[in-house]
Amino acid sequence: MTNSQRKILVTSALPYANGPIHLGHMLEYIQTDIWSRYQKLRGHECHYICADDAHGTPIMLKAQQMGITPEEMIAQVQKEHEQDFADFNIQFDNFHSTHSEENRELASDIYIKLRDNGYIKTKTISQLFDPEKEMFLPDRFVKGTCPKCKSEDQYGDNCDNCGATYSTTDLIKPYSVVSGATPVMKDSEHFFFDLPAFESMLGEWLSSGSLQPEIANKLREWFDQGLQQWDISRDAPYFGFEIPDQPGKFFYVWLDAPIGYMGSFKNLCDRRDDLNFDDFWSIDSKAEIYHFIGKDIVNFHGLFWPAMLHGAGIRKPNSVYAHGYVTVNGAKMSKSKGTFIKARTYLDNLNPEYLRYYYAAKLNSRVDDLDLNLEDFAQRVNSDLVGKLVNLASRTAGFISKRFDGKLAKINDTSLTEAFLAKQDTIAELYETREFGKAMREIMALADMANAYVADAAPWQLIKQEDKQEEAHQVCSNALNLFRILVTYLKPVLPKLAENVEGFLQVTLTWDNLDQDLAGHEIAKFKALMQRIEMKSIEAIIDASTENLQVTQTEVPKVEQVQTELEKEPLAPEISFDDFAKIDLRIALIAKAEHIEKANKLLRLELDLGGETKQVFAGIKSAYAPEDLIGKHTVMVANLAPRKMKFGESEGMVLAAGPGGKDIWILEPHAGAKPGMRVM
Ligand code: MSP
Ligand code: ZN
Repeated sequence: MTNSQRKILVTSALPYANGPIHLGHMLEYIQTDIWSRYQKLRGHECHYICADDAHGTPIMLKAQQMGITPEEMIAQVQKEHEQDFADFNIQFDNFHSTHSEENRELASDIYIKLRDNGYIKTKTISQLFDPEKEMFLPDRFVKGTCPKCKSEDQYGDNCDNCGATYSTTDLIKPYSVVSGATPVMKDSEHFFFDLPAFESMLGEWLSSGSLQPEIANKLREWFDQGLQQWDISRDAPYFGFEIPDQPGKFFYVWLDAPIGYMGSFKNLCDRRDDLNFDDFWSIDSKAEIYHFIGKDIVNFHGLFWPAMLHGAGIRKPNSVYAHGYVTVNGAKMSKSKGTFIKARTYLDNLNPEYLRYYYAAKLNSRVDDLDLNLEDFAQRVNSDLVGKLVNLASRTAGFISKRFDGKLAKINDTSLTEAFLAKQDTIAELYETREFGKAMREIMALADMANAYVADAAPWQLIKQEDKQEEAHQVCSNALNLFRILVTYLKPVLPKLAENVEGFLQVTLTWDNLDQDLAGHEIAKFKALMQRIEMKSIEAIIDASTENLQVTQTEVPKVEQVQTELEKEPLAPEISFDDFAKIDLRIALIAKAEHIEKANKLLRLELDLGGETKQVFAGIKSAYAPEDLIGKHTVMVANLAPRKMKFGESEGMVLAAGPGGKDIWILEPHAGAKPGMRVM
């Protein structure tokens, strides 16, 4: 493998453009980034490509709910995503969007090739349709009563209460989550990709070794059940690309999403003279292509995508590498436990390289889930990075500067150096095969050796003895040289630390110069490289991630509730405590409550603040009858600027929370609460 330069294209899955990046996502971007940085460190030509996945119904509805165009929303989200990735030191060669001209062209071309090759079929199907919103409803956007256990407000395809799975059309009293209307069945012509036509090709692909064994097995289950036609069209209104020659029909988001890998790369090639798109994607290309993905999207990457490429006469990827799911403290990430941690919340409190290291230390080439145990995380980082790695330099560098003019000695005993260098092929192979955890263990075992050597030689003792100066110089120089090798090995994982060490040691750290001789080399003054993790930073992250109060605004479309349950609803930008203190929360007596003609969700309330009365329109009609409210105390935002609404002016907001429907509760303070009292 040595010195023959490889051409490699690497991708991570494209994050949806309707929510923030969280620490679950980050596993994938960190894994891919380490692998691609490793390839670059070895001198290979490697391009790491990504983009936002900008299409689909949830994105369309989310933008509507925010009162902006989908284009505006995805632009805003893309900016945030890019900033999060940059701050985690994720080094994309290009980050683009699936809603781009490059992608539109490529998606159209591929579709036309598939169509002309006879792989697109049409069929009329009947689906639930929201007559009020005039749109077809994906399963996630229909709720109703479970046909089996009769529990209410269950999703279109399965029941949370009894676990039954059924077809959306079996729901009792179904309603559209978007408008509340009762859906009707409606016919429409759909376009299907003829997946069964690729059975023999896919059979070979599954046993080609391109997939991890557990993924190949999983896909073989679907395969054995018989491949199905894949529905690739959606009717307007839809945010996506219109299908060529089919006005009003759009590509389903998953048709153009993987093509987005190509679109992003095309966009890069168009800006770079030295890069040629076809060198990578033509059928006879010798370049390597790898997709890093999560285990939830293997069917798209392991079946549909290779079939689409094959059907359009385009090469397939060399491999698809799936990873497992991140859990936090042993459980699924949860907003109420404060473990649904956004990338930004983490970055506000901790150094990104801690997480890069911890994920690396726990990653392997399989599809296992990975637990981010926050205590273990702090302990591991403190012990390995601060205690073992950085300590090596911090205990020795000062003497070099103070006593030896900042110059390193020629090392007499090179046995440790040789032992360190002897590990380079092992460590390289572990990076190459995505066994990052094993690589970190190898590297830390070396760090242990170096630390034992320094502890044993005790340069801080030697330095005090007139006749031991040369020996002290030897030990410190040796330690810093070993430190240099360790940091080179860790460079794909800790790029920022490596950069700082390059400044400190005044060298460039590459694989090729692992064995460089630093005799007589002058180094800069040592500056602290990394601090210990304090538990208070972790507590701050949990606090900032805990959602215990949700203000239900007047007239919030119900789609927001769906997204909260999917844990996809992004938090608004963080506010300071001072900002929060500006909200004047007051006890209010509900003096009057009444129905409003033609309003589906709103009740009109008159709230007595102890002398002053305010009118508020509250979206709690589904949960409360007016007569139940009159005479109750509740809590209101009293200093909210009045807002003109359809039925009049609303002069504040009451606090209420719940999943929706009947299950919304207003805050009811103890009877001793007096109207007008400030709540905090
Ligand atoms: N938009 C699709 C991917 C299209 S690729 C052509 C998508 N987006 S996503 O935002 O939901 O997820 C992006 C990646 O993050 C996926 O690979 C997904 O598996 C991964 N993860 C999302 N949550 C995760 C965890 N909790 N843990 C590990 N990876 C997770 O899917
Ligand atoms: Zn049920």
